[in-house]
Amino acid sequence: MSSTLRPLIAGNWKMNGLRASMSEFEAMIAGAPGVTGKADLLVCPPATLIAAFAAKASGSKSVAIGGQDCHPKPSGAHTGDISAEMLADAGASAVIVGHSERRADHGESDHLVRQKAEAAWRAGLTAIVCIGETQTQRDAAQTLDICRSQLQGSLPEGARAGNLVVAYEPIWAIGTGLTPTAKDVEQIHQFIRQTLSARFKDEGVGMRILDGGSVKPSNARELLGVANVNGALIGGASLKASDFLAIAADCP
Ligand code: PGA
Repeated sequence: MSSTLRPLIAGNWKMNGLRASMSEFEAMIAGAPGVTGKADLLVCPPATLIAAFAAKASGSKSVAIGGQDCHPKPSGAHTGDISAEMLADAGASAVIVGHSERRADHGESDHLVRQKAEAAWRAGLTAIVCIGETQTQRDAAQTLDICRSQLQGSLPEGARAGNLVVAYEPIWAIGTGLTPTAKDVEQIHQFIRQTLSARFKDEGVGMRILDGGSVKPSNARELLGVANVNGALIGGASLKASDFLAIAADCP
């Protein structure tokens, strides 16, 4: 069952990181052997650092590299965009799609996110699809409805346990220091699990569901211990090797 899925601890560096950040990443690689018995590790740096991080990680193979977004098309006249094929070529094995900051800052719809997930698969990448409600939606008790419709709209047909990860990130918890209670997380992750298994059958049972939004060393153990929480997508706390590794060490 899902509780036995190997956790994924994924760091989303967002628009943070310069070449000087290599030393922090090297510290992650150095510490990774201490935690890879418990979890898979993935770091999603800004696109400018993907190739260098992937080259650095290739020796140890203990930390995978991912992108933070991709364009639906493989190539073409799309100034400033990056394709899934380019991410794969640079050494990435996964890509985050549909993060709430992309949905908000770039007006990304469920339909577009779905196309991006399909692009990820076309390039051989795992798609990490983000969903989550706003504070207003939460206050109106719409959390489960929002998650249902985002899952319905953002996940393509053909999703499998091996090529899709869902990240539940309530928008009000991202970067705010606020987190849902373990009881709320349990209820929402269970709902996501039911939705995935109803649609994708056994593959949905095996998909990892990450928790996100202000996950940090002080709350990781509790959140990662909740049923159907199969890892975390971490923003701020993933920028420091010591915090990132401490969270991974807290996997059950
Ligand atoms: P946070 O970000 O951990 O800084 O809240 C999480 C995310 O947006 O992926």
